[in-house]
Amino acid sequence: MAKKPTIRFVCQNCQASYLKWQGKCENCGEWNTLEEEKVEVTPRRTIALKGGGLSTVRLDGKTTPPQRIHSGIEEFNRVLGGGFVPGSVVLVGGDPGIGKSTLMLQATCALAGTGHEVLYVSGEEAIDQIRLRAQRLGLDVKPDALNTLDLAASINVTDIVTTLEERHVHKVVVIDSIQTMWLEGIESAPGSVSQVRACAFELIRLAKTLGFALVLIGHVTKEGSLAGPRVLEHMVDAVLYFEGDRGHQFRILRAAKNRFGATDEIGVFAMTDSGLKEVPNPSALFLAERHGNIAGSAVFAGLEGTRPVLMEVQVLLSPKTGEGAPRRAVIGWDTARLNMILAVLEARCGLKLSSMDVYLNITGGIKITEPAADLAVAAALISAATGKPTASDAAYFGEIGLSGELRQVSQTELRLKEIAKLGFRQAFLPRHVSSTSARPRPPQGLSLQEIGHLSDLVALFTIKGVS
Ligand code: TYD
Ligand code: MG
Repeated sequence: MAKKPTIRFVCQNCQASYLKWQGKCENCGEWNTLEEEKVEVTPRRTIALKGGGLSTVRLDGKTTPPQRIHSGIEEFNRVLGGGFVPGSVVLVGGDPGIGKSTLMLQATCALAGTGHEVLYVSGEEAIDQIRLRAQRLGLDVKPDALNTLDLAASINVTDIVTTLEERHVHKVVVIDSIQTMWLEGIESAPGSVSQVRACAFELIRLAKTLGFALVLIGHVTKEGSLAGPRVLEHMVDAVLYFEGDRGHQFRILRAAKNRFGATDEIGVFAMTDSGLKEVPNPSALFLAERHGNIAGSAVFAGLEGTRPVLMEVQVLLSPKTGEGAPRRAVIGWDTARLNMILAVLEARCGLKLSSMDVYLNITGGIKITEPAADLAVAAALISAATGKPTASDAAYFGEIGLSGELRQVSQTELRLKEIAKLGFRQAFLPRHVSSTSARPRPPQGLSLQEIGHLSDLVALFTIKGVS
């Protein structure tokens, strides 16, 4: 029976479809997300079909690990889990202007430099624009490698599919961006749920049959999810987010899903005049502008994926202005956790900060999600409250419980190693109590200051005046 195009109102957030327009999507609760789209309604089949039999295998059979295509950018490889896997699909998401196109252009040029056949399709920029950008980036594409990097400006998925099928040489294909792609036969505009899903489906199907690695670039909405259907995240093998604050030069590539590697890996880059530069030692960069002798600052030894990274926590206290609750302005950390630590400092350590406005900032535009930052935040707060700087050679990590006790966090030795590597001489950490794990051995030259209760840390500031 022929398919019948019909008008439907499709929620751009969750894809629920309605016969009539309405302000609120009843499925996901979002407002003003319904858009008119022409969809093809396939009549329901009434005859039961009989399929062929599946050929099944046993789990314990032999298998070879997937071959990887090295992306040419070490930080990118780390996040991918070792490089591109042929036939796999990677979605690179991020805010507009964060540097997705730059990253992928640098990666494709590096790939071409090592002799891989690559196709970069842009639906957003003209060929000349891409060329100019490559020149500005000073990308080192060797003359003979130029034969292996194909550029195209197109939004037509049918054309792209035909080209790929006919040429059948490309090992890596980049689509910039999936929201600009358009498939004939789908009547809604590029960027709509139906288009994005149908275009992605076509390209993914081809990647699996022809065996090339496919990279889809996707824009992220204000709310932080990928514009277009969420379902895109389910269709691909890996979802990488390119994050950062546009006011800062740091960019972090983070894996949110990866079928071929760990999801907690990050790659750190700095956006410079000549493109993205890899940052193999992020700690040094994040601490580069630190002034050790100012009250209200503490160094936190954190973990980003498997990597230890040192960051600076800064706190500013000022007497509360106006009526009502004091201000809690937090950048890069969790306001609820800050409130918890303020409450613990007040209730368990007698440090009253409830009449103060608190401003907390993690420098470098980094976002910390680990509770291990509690101790560094507490140290910065105590330092700001007492007006005494933390020791310039000290770094902190540890989780704080509601009774003020300090709790162990993971990867103590890894954190200690990074602290020592950056030239710090003291590490403040939770007291070792566990009988199941061995006492951490500090690297040479690093002394461990074990803290059992938060009030011990407060005492260090108020009694000795140093920490
Ligand atoms: P772009 O890769 O176009 O972002 P996206 O594809 O994620 O939308 O990056 C654009 C921004 O990067 C732009 O605002 C300028 C900045 N930029 C630099 O700072 N240095 C550079 O060498 C390049 C190419 C871009
Ligand atoms: Mg772009």
